Amino acid sequence: MAVRTILHYPDKRLRIPGKPVEDFGESFQALVDDMAETMYAAPGVGLAATQIGVALQLFIVDVSTGEDEPSDLRVFANPVITEKIDSISWEEGCLSFPGVQEDVKRAERVKVKAQDRNGAPFELETDGLLAIAIQHELDHLDGKLMIDHLSPLKRRMVHRAMLKRAAGGGHSMDEAV
Ligand code: NI
Repeated sequence: MAVRTILHYPDKRLRIPGKPVEDFGESFQALVDDMAETMYAAPGVGLAATQIGVALQLFIVDVSTGEDEPSDLRVFANPVITEKIDSISWEEGCLSFPGVQEDVKRAERVKVKAQDRNGAPFELETDGLLAIAIQHELDHLDGKLMIDHLSPLKRRMVHRAMLKRAAGGGHSMDEAV
């Protein structure tokens, strides 16, 4: 297992849509393990394969709180949202936008179909943070990012903040440790 590098906006690879997962063999299993290690190290509640430069329809989510709750790693391969119910505004962050927190409007409840890490199909209906995380990560698989949901003004502000961060990034503590 290894911690992979998480791509930061405006890296163009974040815009490449994922291809369907067809092979659930050894290298896929190693990829899922690496993604889990990367997500927990960040730490984050979700990570899409496209965020580490792997263009596959694959994301992982763990919305457990950690402290007194066991981990709850969920793997979604080839996910499709089949129903969106009601809407809610939720303050979101993204591992590809360090330091950015913005309100994004999403469905409050979703039904999703996907395959687990062994390729077995499953369906899930959920709400709360898990529903938000699923929609956020699914966007990543289409090359869509949280910034795309913002107003033009907010989008410009976040874009500038990220460019500034990228320009100074080589010398920041984040990069050094
Ligand atoms: Ni994200």
